[in-house]
Amino acid sequence: MAFKTLDDIDVRGKRVFVRADLNVPVKNGVVTDLTRIERTARTISELLDGGAAVVVASHFGRPKGRDPEMSLRPVAEPLSAALGGRAVAFAEDCVGPAVEATAKGLRPGDVLLLENLRYHPEEEANDPAFADALCRLADVYVNDAFSTAHRAHASTEAMAHRLPCAAGRLMQAELDALAAVLERPSRPVVAIVGGSKVSTKLDLLGNLVEKVDILVIGGAMANTFLAAQGYAVGKSLCEHDMLDTARKVLKIAEEKDCEVVLPVDVVVAPAFAEGAPATTVALDAVPADQMILDIGPVSVRTVVNRLAESRTLLWNGPFGAFEVKPFDAGTSGVARGAADLTEKGVLVSVAGGGDTVAALVNAGVVDALTYVSTAGGAFLEWLEGKSLPGVAALG
Ligand code: 3PG
Repeated sequence: MAFKTLDDIDVRGKRVFVRADLNVPVKNGVVTDLTRIERTARTISELLDGGAAVVVASHFGRPKGRDPEMSLRPVAEPLSAALGGRAVAFAEDCVGPAVEATAKGLRPGDVLLLENLRYHPEEEANDPAFADALCRLADVYVNDAFSTAHRAHASTEAMAHRLPCAAGRLMQAELDALAAVLERPSRPVVAIVGGSKVSTKLDLLGNLVEKVDILVIGGAMANTFLAAQGYAVGKSLCEHDMLDTARKVLKIAEEKDCEVVLPVDVVVAPAFAEGAPATTVALDAVPADQMILDIGPVSVRTVVNRLAESRTLLWNGPFGAFEVKPFDAGTSGVARGAADLTEKGVLVSVAGGGDTVAALVNAGVVDALTYVSTAGGAFLEWLEGKSLPGVAALG
């Protein structure tokens, strides 16, 4: 899709509204993961270096009206640090006469962070008057929030139709990485899809079997596929009402010449708990009173071998219950394999989705893959083949 980037706009002497995604984890008023802030800081710095003043806006959480627990104030300091110590002023609201006056007085190099956009229900309603009020703060609109692009909100959609607009560097990087994987990939393309429920990933599976050469299914979702093939899965998480659906996915994959890879051995335990006695068993030997919590070592080798034969990897969702050791071993084993192949130049690897990033961080490979997206829902919707309103509006 064609859209303008920072290369196409002249921002010298202008006030630029940057829609960022600063919806970051905060504990006791302290930001605990800086990734989203640091990634969008590159866009803001470039604009400031280009002679602009920048108004930064974001949502934070899902407040119902004003809620001090969901203020963006705690983000001002880490944002300033990510900008190399430049001062970041904070506005108590994102619209209204006070913030308009402040925005009017901004000088090149100034940064103003607005309070949570979602304090106003008009934001999520994509309200035209609210979008107009936000537009009064700036001359140019830059959307750097790919991870919010699946929302048609005033700051992600309506504003793009009202001001000269462009994608920020983070938005651009996300779109480039995703296009490289699904639109013009080197083949074979392998996708790993994990997570707990087939029912939440049906659209995704449906789109992927059409586009990829190999589909590796992991996580508790795989249990549903194993049960559909007649294996007894004991006490494992499994959607017994989705067995027919799983069989249909397998049939479509066969018709589309997409090879489906399922676990060949699994790690089981009597309960999902730290220190629970874990054993590796063959697929036909899952005890009735135990649950599958990870893939076994033979499965890890099988998947890594398939990655070695592929040129492009798209990864969404962990293999096992990686939050609790030792059930992270399968995901970490495959992650290290993917990182190694990427470093050797064999594989272009793109991963995304909330749990996936946490699992890759746990495996210590997050910087070794080609691209790791900070988006959750937007990444998923894009993989499902849906048009994202925040991206479409930039075109
Ligand atoms: C996210 O964290 O995935 C984005 O910030 C979107 O948040 P939302 O699901 O509340 O719109």
